[in-house]
Amino acid sequence: MAHEPVNSLELDPYIATQYPLASTGDQRLKEMLAWALLSPSPHNTQPWRWSVQNGVVRLYADHSRRLAVCDPDARELIIGCGSSLEHYLLRVGLDGDPVRVDLLPDASQPELLAQVVVGQGEPYARCPDLVDAMQLRRTNRTAYHGDPITRDLRVLLDQACAEFDVQTFWISQPAIRSLLVDLIMKADREQMALPAFRKELSQWMHAKKSKVGIPTDLLGQHGLAAYVAPLIVRTFDVGATQAAADSKLTEGSPDIVVLSSSTDTPAAWIQTGRALAHLTLMAMAAGRYSAYMNQPCELPRSRQQLADLIQSDGFPQLIIRLGLASPVRRAPRMPVGDVLANGSGCQ
Ligand SMILES: Cc1cc2nc3c(=O)[nH]c(=O)nc-3n(C[C@H](O)[C@H](O)[C@H](O)COP(=O)(O)O)c2cc1C
Repeated sequence: MAHEPVNSLELDPYIATQYPLASTGDQRLKEMLAWALLSPSPHNTQPWRWSVQNGVVRLYADHSRRLAVCDPDARELIIGCGSSLEHYLLRVGLDGDPVRVDLLPDASQPELLAQVVVGQGEPYARCPDLVDAMQLRRTNRTAYHGDPITRDLRVLLDQACAEFDVQTFWISQPAIRSLLVDLIMKADREQMALPAFRKELSQWMHAKKSKVGIPTDLLGQHGLAAYVAPLIVRTFDVGATQAAADSKLTEGSPDIVVLSSSTDTPAAWIQTGRALAHLTLMAMAAGRYSAYMNQPCELPRSRQQLADLIQSDGFPQLIIRLGLASPVRRAPRMPVGDVLANGSGCQ
């Protein structure tokens, strides 16, 4: 991958709060990528590569960052890329540029997920509150409190997801929630029983400074535990502990929503990611954190059981909890310069 040694591309996305940007042309389109990089991604793999050339911005899936055990089909990888795409479009939309967005524009290059031609088409939605929320949103894995979101907000979230053909199933009834908790616990035990799953997870957990992966303090490990957590996960079947913790977090969350799509294709995964961006950013703009309990979606049998539970003939993609919580620090990110591919594709 060719890196471009342009200083402002090392712009720390954490402090990229200023807009409009002073720069112009492709440089400006590159700087706006700082907001795309604030998107969530599985295990914070940041599995995207971007190129910017003559006003055309391309997003590539970086399959070298696929979680081979947890995400063999790259479904979650592509969802993460879809979310990053939506961050980018919302940021461009703030400046009012027209954009034409083509998903999967070249069948011979399936890793090319999207092409954004800036200067053609219609201006993208102008949503300053969502762009501001990108700076605040985190996956907050602590216990949540508060009332469920208002009916009005729920309708807005449903509508935002529906724009991308993503259905939302809110798990409000205690009996359904309890069955969902059973599915999550069962999936936790099943995944953690696999040494290969635990090895992969441990490789993306770290206590030291790194630009990718999940810092162990964000997984609730502090002091010495923060350092030994990856070794413990890799060595021992921690399924029972994980299941007990996830049961408590899920039972105690004011809102749980399952995102589901009518097909299970890369195009549907990109759209799920775009819906996810709206859901998490709109929730954050309303003061609600988000976190994931996707385990049942990651195992074929559990996934079908989840579809049956929510009475959907579609494909459950994500399970998200929302609520009020104490703030947590931001997970690290690669700078823009590290995710720029050369113009001809993703090497
Ligand atoms: C498709 C997808 C799946 C994810 N699955 C999980 C998950 O199962 N458990 C979890 O704790 N976090 C999950 N995450 C959240 C990531 O770990 C998180 O986005 C990443 O560590 C970056 O942190 P941030 O969201 O706070 O910016 C997922 C994120 C995405 C986009």
